[in-house]
Amino acid sequence: MKIIGSFPKTRLRRLRKSSWIRNLVSENAISSNDLILPIFVREGKNKVESIKSMPGVNRYTVDKLAIILSKVKKFKIPAVALFPFTPNNKKNINGSEALSPNNLICKSLRLIKSRFPEIGVMCDVALDPYTSHGHDGILINNEIDNDETIKILIKQAILQAKMGCDIIAPSDMMDGRIGEIRKALDKNNFKNVSILSYAVKYASNFYGPFRDAVGSKSKLKKDKKTYQMDYRNITESFREVGLDIKEGADMIMVKPGMIYLDVISKIKNQFKVPVVAYQVSGEYSLIKSGINKNLIDDNAIIESLLAFKRAGACAIVTYFALDLAKKLNN
Ligand code: PBG
Repeated sequence: MKIIGSFPKTRLRRLRKSSWIRNLVSENAISSNDLILPIFVREGKNKVESIKSMPGVNRYTVDKLAIILSKVKKFKIPAVALFPFTPNNKKNINGSEALSPNNLICKSLRLIKSRFPEIGVMCDVALDPYTSHGHDGILINNEIDNDETIKILIKQAILQAKMGCDIIAPSDMMDGRIGEIRKALDKNNFKNVSILSYAVKYASNFYGPFRDAVGSKSKLKKDKKTYQMDYRNITESFREVGLDIKEGADMIMVKPGMIYLDVISKIKNQFKVPVVAYQVSGEYSLIKSGINKNLIDDNAIIESLLAFKRAGACAIVTYFALDLAKKLNN
């Protein structure tokens, strides 16, 4: 790019001299329209339980979900993402609780769709909250079996769609699952249920607090590197996205977020599809603890989220969704 202008005729500070002019020339913006709030659900009644690894984030029993959903509605956050904290006695090697019509996700979907029909709901398709080994798929001979896993993911997706899920979000990173899930949704008359594929999900060290929040951390044997992406790679992410779009994904997720802005930006430029970013639990907890210790100002929240818009993301999944929406409202 050619540099236009030269000093002293050109003074870039002229366009920064007061807030009104900065607003006029600003290139990007963020609003509550851009946010998806993750919500953790637990069994039992009448409990709102804090999560040590994620200060400010709670687990809700289904009967208490209205507390947070009414805030989501009030602050006009378009959608929530549901995650279950499954009790140990309901976990097993095949994660069969994922297919129970009375699991936490199904119960929550029924509640939201009857009491808060204006809120969009996105659900993870993956088995890790339900397996005794903490992996996203079926473990056969010490390997996560791709094709056997897909058979179950299809059933999980159909069940979620039946319960009213609007956005099916496969986060398991099996090969070929988007096509199979799309086919099954269409066959079952869910042609208007959309798929947000976690197409570019890295085997990251920043998921720790989340795994604690859904109770899979202590369970997880080894790592997820045989199915989640190697963080040294970016070209590979284009292959992932290309395949998933061909298979029928409506939107693409890049995860984690803040340390993968280069990936978001390149995918947006190459594919021109809606890219959603996930500011993950480790990223959240780092910023949150900095704010709690007064090391940084809470305007850091806006700055961290605007970066995703600048990189080209259309929406952001973030545990800060309510904090940001409240801040923008003031
Ligand atoms: C699991 C899943 C994970 C997250 C969302 N869905 C963790 C993992 O893959 O181990 C992480 C979210 C976060 O860290 O905030 N399918």
